[in-house]
Amino acid sequence: MKTYCIALVPGDGIGKEVIPAGQRILDALTSAEPSLHFRFEHFDWGGDYYRRHGVMMPSEGLDALRKHDAILFGSAGDPNIPDHITLWGLRLKICQGLDQYANIRPTRILPGIDTPLKHCKPEDLNWMIVRENTEGEYSGVGGRTHQGHPLEVATDLSVMTRAGVERILRFAFRLAQARPRKLLTVITKSNAQRHAMVMWDEIAAQVAAEFPEVHWDKELVDAATARMVNRPASLDTIVATNLHADILSDLAAALAGSLGIAPTANLNPERVYPSMFEPIHGSAFDIMGKGLANPIGTFWSIVLMLEHLGETSAAHRLMLAIEHVTANPRLHTRDLGGNATTPDVTEAMCALLTARTHRIHA
Ligand code: IPM
Ligand code: MG
Repeated sequence: MKTYCIALVPGDGIGKEVIPAGQRILDALTSAEPSLHFRFEHFDWGGDYYRRHGVMMPSEGLDALRKHDAILFGSAGDPNIPDHITLWGLRLKICQGLDQYANIRPTRILPGIDTPLKHCKPEDLNWMIVRENTEGEYSGVGGRTHQGHPLEVATDLSVMTRAGVERILRFAFRLAQARPRKLLTVITKSNAQRHAMVMWDEIAAQVAAEFPEVHWDKELVDAATARMVNRPASLDTIVATNLHADILSDLAAALAGSLGIAPTANLNPERVYPSMFEPIHGSAFDIMGKGLANPIGTFWSIVLMLEHLGETSAAHRLMLAIEHVTANPRLHTRDLGGNATTPDVTEAMCALLTARTHRIHA
């Protein structure tokens, strides 16, 4: 029997609702799969921790996480603490500290979900966005000087290293090769940004030589937004810089029906450190504490976690249960135009995963 140690970091806002829902789902999964076990450790890091201790997480926090097989994360953000403090003090600290350099964001139109794209059939939109996750525009390099004076200067330096670009492009080519269409689009802005983005293009061509089966093309990020809307089926795997992929993935999630559904994995592919799985929706203060959050983004993130752990049959079973639930409009939360609550969706998922296991397999 395999026992996985999972670190639960709900963080703030609706993270405190969707992560406990995720834990219930993992418990329901194991009750029907006796060979699978999870041990959970809870970390109360985030805004409240900051108010008590002056930091979002303790300095030895990364060491504590390192001992786990995976991390399930809710969201970082607090209405009374500046966003750059909550973000850099928790989520980015973990991503950079545990070298989770490959962020993947699968996007599909799930059964029962409407897309705002008029002529798009569900099968036309099936993307895997690969986001560089540790450098680029989020390197954290820069500064401010002469604050408050007319000659005030502020810089955020986008840092691209050959090693960093090469490893994310190789990861993206490998992923594209493993998907049925073997199709990769490399997104940059190498017409305007003539140094680092030109290096991306050059390295893409070099890495492509290692993957002769992969068809690949290049697209500028502005044109990529239009292509996502006008020709969604022309895309499959997409790789882009930290900031470009951040923006493109919100567009992707909206085109696939809702940000509430979208999952993500922050991967350390070499498995030197644990990887972290989270919904992309953020802390959503406007709805927090009301039971309105869509937990599907967390459940789909758990599918990615199970796949990463090699538990493919459990991952498959959970994905089928998610698709059963999204297909039922009575189980749609407010972001999908429905009235269901977080507990409604969670209970329906648990019922499917336990009592009706056989029907899901059928
Ligand atoms: C995401 C989010 C974060 C990011 C926010 C919360 C800072 O938008 O994961 O896409 O920009 O990385
Ligand atoms: Mg984002």
